[in-house]
Amino acid sequence: MNPRPLGSTGLDVAPVGFGCWQLGGDGWGTLSARAVQEAILRAIDLGLNVFDTAPIYGFGQSEDLLGRTLSGRSEGVVVVSKVGLVWDHRKVVRHNHRPESLRTQLEGSLQRLRREPLDLLLLHWPDPTVLLDDSVAVLDSLRSQGKIRAWGLSNFPAADVTRIRRPDVVLEYPSNALKLYAQESRAAASAGEELLGALDSTATGFMAYDVLARGLLGGRYTEAKKFGKRDLRSRDDRFSAAAFPGNLQRARRISELARKLGTPPAALAIRAVLERAGVGCALVGFKTSTQVEEAAEAVSIQMTEATRATMKAIEDNEAINSV
Ligand SMILES: NC(=O)c1ccc[n+]([C@@H]2O[C@H](COP(=O)([O-])OP(=O)(O)OC[C@H]3O[C@@H](n4cnc5c(N)ncnc54)[C@H](OP(=O)(O)O)[C@@H]3O)[C@@H](O)[C@H]2O)c1
Repeated sequence: MNPRPLGSTGLDVAPVGFGCWQLGGDGWGTLSARAVQEAILRAIDLGLNVFDTAPIYGFGQSEDLLGRTLSGRSEGVVVVSKVGLVWDHRKVVRHNHRPESLRTQLEGSLQRLRREPLDLLLLHWPDPTVLLDDSVAVLDSLRSQGKIRAWGLSNFPAADVTRIRRPDVVLEYPSNALKLYAQESRAAASAGEELLGALDSTATGFMAYDVLARGLLGGRYTEAKKFGKRDLRSRDDRFSAAAFPGNLQRARRISELARKLGTPPAALAIRAVLERAGVGCALVGFKTSTQVEEAAEAVSIQMTEATRATMKAIEDNEAINSV
């Protein structure tokens, strides 16, 4: 999988990236630490060189497991982490973009990840109590000090990002083939759409998440699928008793087209996002090597005009005779 420039950051990334929230071990159903470590190594073998984590994913566990697994294998690997969400001893989470806290949060990540500099640091979600310009000054200074190589913004309102107008700032937002987002991500998704629409067609500094709509577009679920109480999908309105059957029906149209193309549903769903001008990398949360291998097929799908038209009709939820 050939790496390509991530915007003007100087980082080269594969089009499919490894999302590491699932490594946190909480909120995503069953996880085997051994299987996910194998998946990380398999991803590296296949050229998937981007690993996107955050301190909040498992309260440090995701970064720690990633750091341990990557140790000694970091050549060409791009590690992305985030700042802005902190937690207390009761695991109550809050925003904190105060300059001294951002610096301390990054130090914690560098230790857990066992690497310095960090390749890419994102402000995870906006903190309405701190001016974005103040956070930008901290991020610039962390880069000058050699603590990070690049930085970016995730989930910020489009107007804030546009005001900063920096081509070297990476963006991370939800984007998926059905434009079907969870309630809490809809504002971020629409900001992402707006920013993506305004990007130069040759830009590649946009990283997409929610690419499989938390597994809905992976072709594996049926109406009988149940998510445990601790699984965040049990609180995601796309999986509610009222919405899940209809959403599965839409997702099945992707699976049917994928079957005709001879590719896994997840690969086609990922490819649909990579087709969007401006997207440099589609992040997907993997737990097993098989999931990684299927996703890697996204780059070899031959996208004909007919396939593009069918995917557009599926996105728009139009009737199609052939699928
Ligand atoms: N910046 C932000 O605010 C933000 C927010 C959310 C996520 N993210 C990043 O994005 C990453 C991905 O998370 P997401 O929320 O966007 O979830 P996602 O990638 O849309 O969905 C992840 C789920 O898809 C399923 N899956 C993975 N590979 C598959 C395959 N080949 N075939 C079928 N199903 C497959 C797995 O489901 P099962 O659990 O059923 O195995 C997995 O748990 C996170 O790890 C994180 O790095 C960033």
